[in-house]
Amino acid sequence: MTNNFTERAGIYVHIPFCKRKCNYCDFKSFPYPERSEEYFNALKKEILNTDAVCKTIDTVYFGGGTPSFVDERYIVDVFNLLRNKFDFDLSEATIEANPESITKSKLLAYKSAGFDRLSIGVQSLSDDVLKFLGRVHDSDMAKSAVKTALEFFDNVSCDIMLVGQSAESVAKDIEYLSASGVKHLSCYMLQIEEGTPFYDRYIKNDIKLPTDDELADLFSFAIAKLKSLGYKRYEVSNFCKRGYEAKHNLGYWVRKPYYGFGLSAHSLIGNERYGNQSAFDEYVSDPLKREFKEVLSESDIELEKIMLALRTSHGVLKEEILNKPDFYDKYKNYFYIKGDRISLNDKGFMIMNKILVDLFQ
Ligand SMILES: C[S@@+](CC[C@H](N)C(=O)[O-])C[C@H]1O[C@@H](n2cnc3c(N)ncnc32)[C@H](O)[C@@H]1O
Ligand code: SF4
Repeated sequence: MTNNFTERAGIYVHIPFCKRKCNYCDFKSFPYPERSEEYFNALKKEILNTDAVCKTIDTVYFGGGTPSFVDERYIVDVFNLLRNKFDFDLSEATIEANPESITKSKLLAYKSAGFDRLSIGVQSLSDDVLKFLGRVHDSDMAKSAVKTALEFFDNVSCDIMLVGQSAESVAKDIEYLSASGVKHLSCYMLQIEEGTPFYDRYIKNDIKLPTDDELADLFSFAIAKLKSLGYKRYEVSNFCKRGYEAKHNLGYWVRKPYYGFGLSAHSLIGNERYGNQSAFDEYVSDPLKREFKEVLSESDIELEKIMLALRTSHGVLKEEILNKPDFYDKYKNYFYIKGDRISLNDKGFMIMNKILVDLFQ
């Protein structure tokens, strides 16, 4: 039996509203701010009717969509509801925000409610890149949002995207964010997702995209730049100054239980994983209905633990890999051993999916 309901858990809350959809994004978010009231009523209903089997909550993450797009009273209201429902013993509470909707009054409301970490969707500080991505903000807005955020929060993270811009442009962005005092950066390579404007243009051969090798080179360049400025790579896409690892996300990678509230959110409680409905009308009409539910076997769980742990620089116990000598022989240049742990090195992270497929076949 893997259920251990005395364990601490994390909470993810999905806020599915954005001012408009970016050209590359297939996350569940909609430009329907006028439906906020309806959505938050459904969200509160879901929270109130959830059986709080894992009572103690140590991390909270409000993501999206764009949580900063909606009126802050909705966010504070849900945060307080969670605080009443569960025992909060928080070590981290993060909220995602986009540059164009960051205001001092919102930041003050988040901070007063109990958030202590802000994750900003900067993506780039080049106006050309932001325009290409279809972002609402420009580079000046991003710079001013980072500055304002740092007046309220010590723990600020920024997302940046590699889309084929020049290495100089990436270096300038990273240097700017580092000099501003940003402690954590998430760095993603552009993925072309079905159902997005970029996908349609890609199918019609109507978009100039970098090759996989070009993106990989840019990523290697970004990694070196980040490391030179004192950011440690502690997960495939995540870098931070010492002590600023994202605790909530680390929870996912060590397979800690979590509740996911809101449209399309997933939960992992004991040996059950379930997901909420992802269509807006369906979620608001019945926020307790699940889109899927699976009961995981012991072997599923062991496999997931290894796959998730290999995303991080902490890795797994070295026996997990060394006891597969053929596999280890083939990939030994992609691993790094320290003490009793083994983890992927930067070269290994680059081909992580291939390595994982081989490991479990
Ligand atoms: C879904 S967004 C939510 C946060 C916020 N709305 C924003 O735009 O930054 C989380 C992050 O995922 C990344 N992302 C979303 N779609 C992506 C894609 N197709 N390829 C690479 N990164 C992507 C972006 O960097 C974004 O910051
Ligand atoms: S990337 Fe962020 S802002 Fe853009 S559509 Fe997706 S969730 Fe919304």
